[in-house]
Amino acid sequence: MIPQWFIEEKRDGKVHQRADLEDWVRGITSGSLPDYQISAWLMAVYLNGMTDEEIAILTDAMLHSGETIHFNLDRPTVDKHSTGGIGDKISIPLAPLCAAMGMAVPMISGRGLGITGGTLDKLESIPGFNVRLSIDTFKALTERLGCCMIGQTNTLAPADRRLYALRDVTGTVPSIPLITASIMSKKLAEGADALLFDVKFGSGAFMKTQAQACDLAHHLIQTGLRLGRKCRALITDMNQPLGRAIGNALEIRESMAILSGEGPADVRHLTLAEAAHMAHLSGLCETLEAAEALAQETLDSGKAMETFLAMCQAQGGDLTKPLPTAELQVPILAESDGVIQSVDAERIGKAALTLGAGRVAVTETPDLAAGIDELLQQGETVTKGQPLCVLHANDADRLTAATALVKEAITLSTEACAPRHLIYDVLSA
Ligand code: URA
Repeated sequence: MIPQWFIEEKRDGKVHQRADLEDWVRGITSGSLPDYQISAWLMAVYLNGMTDEEIAILTDAMLHSGETIHFNLDRPTVDKHSTGGIGDKISIPLAPLCAAMGMAVPMISGRGLGITGGTLDKLESIPGFNVRLSIDTFKALTERLGCCMIGQTNTLAPADRRLYALRDVTGTVPSIPLITASIMSKKLAEGADALLFDVKFGSGAFMKTQAQACDLAHHLIQTGLRLGRKCRALITDMNQPLGRAIGNALEIRESMAILSGEGPADVRHLTLAEAAHMAHLSGLCETLEAAEALAQETLDSGKAMETFLAMCQAQGGDLTKPLPTAELQVPILAESDGVIQSVDAERIGKAALTLGAGRVAVTETPDLAAGIDELLQQGETVTKGQPLCVLHANDADRLTAATALVKEAITLSTEACAPRHLIYDVLSA
């Protein structure tokens, strides 16, 4: 294959042949293709798209560009991928809950970037928690405990690593074929037989509209099916943050509250719903109703919390030591009586980032104690002088800047307002 002919083919809106696409991905992984040719091709894909079959071939080639994990278990292996949002800590209670229900959850997660948080940063706020385990240890812990949560390694889907870095600097990130192949190549390399997607839409999500979220979900499901996996997607709201806590250690506290049968209703509802769909999709339960009952029963029994504590200990986490706490904890007070009409996820995400909870560049280290807690939600009533939320920071200037953003994010009026709707759709094959 002559690289410029391959680029011209996509530039002219044509369909690539399997052998050429596989060859192209080999060139990306080996380094024989230069950045400028890969970048030109990425822009051609961004502009002209790919067929479902091309996406599946690209995903398969990227998946096989590195190591793949295989489990030999007598329980179903299943994972979930969320497209990310503000306060989205669902993976943390979900993985141990599913493990305690009888599934195996090999979870490879990411770090926060921009306004969205990342599971790895949240877990690292637990003193000693190690997310950089070898694949062998990851496999062994998943087999022994039913779940393990680590970060991406250099050996899983290395073609995606190079492609993602180039997409990031060439304006080619928001392309459904490229996003699909990127997410799926990494998720399929983990070895799960079934995958649940939580595709979010709204101001705090990658996809701004429900239609865009459904389009991405459709491509993720189709690609998974073509590559022999069971897939389902929930389309969920991200116009408002999930739960009351945004920030790494704060979200660990909220996740542990969920595992103790407490915590905010929306986080509990989505955790239980995702666990039930995973149990049904993977074949652990014959009906969704049976799966919902099993999820609730397992959470209530305390077994999900026991599994979380066992996973923490196995990964070096020491919960006898305190989680990081911020020096400054300042409430933002309601200026009038009223009902919360909306809490804008994007502005709250920007406020959390301003407080130091996130990173602006991949190389930065977030302040694990910083963030927002006790955040009121749409439909809740407040009286003048009552806290709308509490800001946690280690820097007074950051606190001042974040205060303005939080005030802009929360709309209050005397009109009645229903709580927001969370799960909009369930898509499957
Ligand atoms: N997450 C990924 O892993 N890849 C993308 O392209 C977008 C989100």
